[in-house]
Amino acid sequence: MRNVLVIHYSQTGQLTRISESVIKPLQDDPQINVDLLELKPEQAFPFPWPFLSFFHVFPESVKMQPIPMQHTCPPRLDYDLIILCYQVWFLSPSLPTSSFLQSELAASLFKNTPVVTVIGCRGMWLSAQEKVKCLLENLQATLVDNVVLTDQCGAGFSFLATPLWMFTGRKKSYSWVPKAGVSDQEIAQCDRFGEAIATRLNKDPSKIEQPMLKGLAAVTINEKFIASERVGQHSFRIWSKIISAFGPMYSLRRSCGLMLYVIFLVTLILTVVPISALIKRLIAPLTKKRIATQKAYFSEPSGE
Ligand SMILES: Cc1cc2nc3c(=O)[nH]c(=O)nc-3n(C[C@H](O)[C@H](O)[C@H](O)COP(=O)(O)O)c2cc1C
Repeated sequence: MRNVLVIHYSQTGQLTRISESVIKPLQDDPQINVDLLELKPEQAFPFPWPFLSFFHVFPESVKMQPIPMQHTCPPRLDYDLIILCYQVWFLSPSLPTSSFLQSELAASLFKNTPVVTVIGCRGMWLSAQEKVKCLLENLQATLVDNVVLTDQCGAGFSFLATPLWMFTGRKKSYSWVPKAGVSDQEIAQCDRFGEAIATRLNKDPSKIEQPMLKGLAAVTINEKFIASERVGQHSFRIWSKIISAFGPMYSLRRSCGLMLYVIFLVTLILTVVPISALIKRLIAPLTKKRIATQKAYFSEPSGE
């Protein structure tokens, strides 16, 4: 019998649906036992998000400053595989995810264990995955595969459609805004990953050390975001310090600092993102080789 632990957290239920689709073939297999571990912050985050509350979690998300969590221990500590499902908050793993990955329970569960990460986000996940890689390294876990699903409305529209989904609670927030979120079809097709994982688990009892999802289009790298994420991450690091200095999460003083930040962020999205995308397109012939190297790096370990 092989044992798999699925760690998940979701506000809208989207990531839960993605994880359910991935693990269905594992749950249907009598040779595989699947345990679920839902991450629960002590104080639940609101959904839909009040406008300023959404930004209040920005510094802690970027700095990966752990918040209090309600930890429930799964039935065992020695799993053959951990499937870690997470969403991205401000180019970082969501706060419940990063908090859990720095807990003692995670230290016991992840040590010497192969891990598949499954990301469901708007579209900018490269920096978050770099941070998760570091956390996994600290836990002495081995990342063997990565699956990424991004919003169906496309990179440009998602800057509007996804925040509006977060603020209104509706995927189709207004008739004139494209529908946010990962498409139902893409979610349904995630069972191909579960099938490949089940095949490998049943093949032989050895420890999983190599990717299982190569050739299954587990990730797609949007090269336009490589530079924007680097710039964004750099500015986020500075702003997270400034905003923390204003006051603690949900304080009135922090709200004042956040007003400045929101203006900056909107300016960043309207200027740096399109400008860097345009510059990238113009100099594409000169940077082709470097971009190919970067794409190959970010698509590891599963590949595009
Ligand atoms: C506070 C916050 C910040 C977010 N920041 C990002 C981001 O930087 N990049 C991204 O691709 N998606 C971002 N998203 C979208 C989420 O990754 C995710 O798609 C959405 O919250 C739905 O996830 P759920 O499964 O928790 O419902 C953000 C969402 C929230 C709530």
